[in-house]
Amino acid sequence: MTGSLDSWEQWLLKQAEPHLRRGRPDDWDHTLRALRYGRALLQEEKGDAEIVITTLALHDMGWSRVDYTDFVEAPPEKKKETRSLKEHMVQGALLAREILDTTPFPGDRKERVLQIIACHDEPEAVLALAEPEALLVMEADRLDRFGPESQARYRKMFGENYLREGRSFLLEGAKLWFRTPTAKRILQEMLGQAEKSGAGSAGN
Ligand SMILES: [Fe+2]
Ligand SMILES: [Fe+2]
Repeated sequence: MTGSLDSWEQWLLKQAEPHLRRGRPDDWDHTLRALRYGRALLQEEKGDAEIVITTLALHDMGWSRVDYTDFVEAPPEKKKETRSLKEHMVQGALLAREILDTTPFPGDRKERVLQIIACHDEPEAVLALAEPEALLVMEADRLDRFGPESQARYRKMFGENYLREGRSFLLEGAKLWFRTPTAKRILQEMLGQAEKSGAGSAGN
């Protein structure tokens, strides 16, 4: 990771922060964690680091522009069909375009970033892009569903029940979402940690 990519990331985060703070609970912290997972993946996996980091920094800004009640209320397996989930990707890409338009970020690379933001929560669409960067973004974003912070976040966002119902749904989803050896390894490490601390069992 080069120094200039670090300062680019910091600049992007400064632009994204006001939007992320107005989005869902912890969207800001989630973005910082997704960036950490992204960096960990980039250490081992091939991919254009600038595209991955830029996309992760901006990917969830769209939640600030949608009423996400339908997303919160939908059962785990129906969340991906909610209007607000789709709309946060559309709005996120619009906001990201506004930000990147003020920079010398090259147009063709900008379009790649916006394309990933516009489908980052649709695993089938991400995989159909068949780009390592799109996959790494999805993996980094979704690894944060399994980390130690995720339980507190889900409790805040969806309530206690989700911790019971959502767990098996997430574990099933993991088989589709995580494709690189590094993402699979990080996931297994986190699941192992959770089991040791007792947080991995349903209902905790
Ligand atoms: Fe998202
Ligand atoms: Fe996200």
